[in-house]
Amino acid sequence: MSKIVILTGAGISAESGLETFRAEDGLWAQHRVEDVATPEGFARDPALVVDFYNARRRQAAEATPNAAHKALAKLQQRYPGQVVIITQNVDDLHEQGGARDVIHMHGALNSAMCAACEHRWPAAMVMAPGDACPQCLAPAARPDIVWFGEMPYDIDAIFDHLAEAGIFAAIGTSGNVYPAAGFVAEARRNGAHTVELNLERSAVGGQFAEHRTGPATRVVSEWVDELLAKPEQPRGGFRSGDDH
Ligand code: OAD
Repeated sequence: MSKIVILTGAGISAESGLETFRAEDGLWAQHRVEDVATPEGFARDPALVVDFYNARRRQAAEATPNAAHKALAKLQQRYPGQVVIITQNVDDLHEQGGARDVIHMHGALNSAMCAACEHRWPAAMVMAPGDACPQCLAPAARPDIVWFGEMPYDIDAIFDHLAEAGIFAAIGTSGNVYPAAGFVAEARRNGAHTVELNLERSAVGGQFAEHRTGPATRVVSEWVDELLAKPEQPRGGFRSGDDH
């Protein structure tokens, strides 16, 4: 039974009301990446960065999982093979939708980390700059988010999954940020069938064998229902250039 490896991005949470990063009015149109999503920005102005993630945490707490999150959870529960969900998202809508063992490669809003000793603990809804680490007591709490210039989490485990994938799907991600944007090439090299589910072709869209274009709530639900109706697909055995 083909192992399915799924990468998700901000587009899967858009219909839950969370802003994406690169839309015209998205987060990176409102904030400078270097100010709020780099270790240097945090060193310069910790209050600005902590406030930015407090706002994200508040918005995420008000959001509920949509049909796409729920469809992926259903796939995990009903597909006879392994389904691995890797997300770049820092919200917990996959888990709220019922998904298990989600790999949060860019960190999580509901987690805080000590910049001094790397201890992690559940983040307060409103963090303050200089909050103390509960383990080493250093006033060094920071959001547990992987910033630009930092190493994404679980990268070795992710590449092991990509090596074993029979199907690799990317959902709602613009293909602008590496290493995630390189997963399609890796999966394809290893023989996986690759499918992109997105509102539009991403920056790495040309590398996918199959495209399903439309809002995640629709295209992901349809894709999952098809997989569950006929789950056995040959590893890499789809027509290449298939375009839906
Ligand atoms: P982006 O904002 O770059 O891309 C979102 C993608 O989702 C775009 O390709 C949209 O067309 C698509 N999209 C929007 N609404 C959709 C919908 N309803 N259904 C399907 N697709 C939809 O977000 P990411 O690719 O996730 O990193 O961004 C990757 C990383 O860049 C983020 O994790 C974040 C950011 O900087 C850090 O902060 C470290």
